[in-house]
Amino acid sequence: MTLAADEIKVCCAAAYASTAARLLLGDSFHPGGAGLTARLGRALRVGPGDLVVDVACGPGTSALQLARETGCEVIGIDLAPPTDPADEPRVRFVRGDAEALPLGDEGVEGALCECALCTFPDKQAAARELARVLRPGARLALSDLTARTGQLPDSLTSLQAWVACIADARPLEEIAALLELAGLVVEATETHDGALAALLDRIEARLKVAALLDPQGVARGGELVSEARRALDRGLLGYGVVIARRP
Ligand SMILES: C[S@@+](CC[C@H](N)C(=O)[O-])C[C@H]1O[C@@H](n2cnc3c(N)ncnc32)[C@H](O)[C@@H]1O
Repeated sequence: MTLAADEIKVCCAAAYASTAARLLLGDSFHPGGAGLTARLGRALRVGPGDLVVDVACGPGTSALQLARETGCEVIGIDLAPPTDPADEPRVRFVRGDAEALPLGDEGVEGALCECALCTFPDKQAAARELARVLRPGARLALSDLTARTGQLPDSLTSLQAWVACIADARPLEEIAALLELAGLVVEATETHDGALAALLDRIEARLKVAALLDPQGVARGGELVSEARRALDRGLLGYGVVIARRP
């Protein structure tokens, strides 16, 4: 299935800014929640006075957590309209595209990107942008859905599945190679498939409650989650982390 980049971006921004996303996903829109974000924050090795960009920050929960846990300043960037100003002076939110970041060269001491590369139509452009904005020696901490390219069932290749982070997810090695090609040095990769299983459990439980109110409305979402669960059980889907440094 060939999908237009602009259509994907518009759908992503609308879907993740919706009330339904909040209801299904909660405050953080990635597997592993605050625990995995804390792990990525430590990997960045940033502290007070450092500026970190959270690329595709979604509701901004991780940006706030990072600022509070490390003392750094965070600029959260997302295609969706900025979140309400947070009660945290070290964090600000800006609207922008990960494939053309509204930041100068070598302007940040760290970059976070959680569960979002899978949704970008031009992943190489986004990897180049992440490398461009990092100061030499600064790190990127990225987590993302992983998938065995070309092996997902047709039901997981739709626009809806793309927006749900599945259809264009890549193998962890491919994500690492993409970042290396952009000029970063990969320091570590980790698999966290259990975090994806836990997120699917949570979404299924919330869908069951929502189905009491709107059975037809949630049926399609339920099918997608069931397919994703089957793919995870077969080893076709997973969740992974890459830590990389700009030399
Ligand atoms: C699964 S959510 C993850 C949000 C956040 N990183 C988190 O973990 O809570 C994916 C996010 O990517 C954003 N997004 C998708 N494509 C984007 C792009 N090209 N540039 C910036 N943000 C984008 C969506 O609007 C959405 O907020």
